[in-house]
This record gives sequence, structure tokens and C-alpha cells, in this order.
Amino acid sequence: MKVTGLTPIPNVLRPQGNFVVPPALAAEIDEVITHYPVKRSASLMLLHAMQEHFGWISQEAVEWIARKLELPPINIYELLTFYPMFRLQPAGKYQIKVCRTLSCALAGSQKLHEHFCTRLGLDPHQHEIQTTPDGRFSVEFVECLAGCGGAPVVMCNDEFHENVNPAKADAMMTKRE
Ligand code: FES
Repeated sequence: MKVTGLTPIPNVLRPQGNFVVPPALAAEIDEVITHYPVKRSASLMLLHAMQEHFGWISQEAVEWIARKLELPPINIYELLTFYPMFRLQPAGKYQIKVCRTLSCALAGSQKLHEHFCTRLGLDPHQHEIQTTPDGRFSVEFVECLAGCGGAPVVMCNDEFHENVNPAKADAMMTKRE
């Protein structure tokens, strides 16, 4: 039976022209794979390793992992579109994540997000990730960062900041400019 009228699944992956896996990363990945009884089970760990190295996951990274694990690329793609922690576009060197869930929203995270965006020349109405033209900062809203008692909460890369006010936000940016 021929199926007609289906809309193709959009490909959300972006190309990465300069994609090269350095030998150290390739060796790390080979070692990770040995920890699993079947190669496929290492898929998530390989995605984490790629994101840690490149900062995001590109079309080329998905194809590289698929080849490495002897899987069709769709098996890697489906993980990326299921798990929200993977980044599908390049981000800034410093990634600012502002929590917008209830406790932080009540404590002023909307204004705080506006403050970061305005200071960095980004659109304060855009909730998705935005990056400054010089590639130094990205700002985005995220859901609960599990520090509700210290709302509003912001993460800058791996640093966790509680009770963030505009002065603390300014200090966070100034020391990285
Ligand atoms: S609501 Fe913001 S950290 Fe939980």
C-alpha cells in the first residue's frame, strides 16, 4: 500500500563545517564504549562527550556517532529530540540560564532575564537561546534548576547562583567581559 500526504519530519540539526573529532576525544569515546555490553547503549554518553567538547550537537556529530555505533542516524536523532539537555545550535562561551518556573517567576526571573538581555544587546522577549555576536554570552530561559528556595536562580555554565538581583547579574557578566 502506498502512503501519501505525509509531512516529512523536519530535520532540526544544523551543519558544522569544521567538524573534526580530535584523537583525544576519539580515544575517550572508544574507551566509553567498552563499558557497555552492546555499543548502542553508549549512545547517550557519546552525545554528552560530543556536547562537552563542541558545546552543541551538529548533523555531522550525529552521523559520526551513528557510524561509530553502527546504527542508522535516526537512532541518535531520536535521542536528541527526546532529551532536552542536548543543545542543537552553537552557544556562547558563557551560557546563562535563567529559571522561569514558579518560585523563580514569582521572585522576578522575568525582569532578571530582561536585564541580562538588555545589557548584552539581545531581545528581552525571546525565551529561546540567543547568543551575542561576539560569541561570548548566550542567554535563555530554562525550567526549574532545583534551587527553588534560593529563587531567582541562574546558572552560568556550571556555576549555580541563588537570589540573583540585577547587581549580582551585572557582576556575573562584568567578570567575564
Ligand atoms: S523554580 Fe527556579 S529553581 Fe526551582
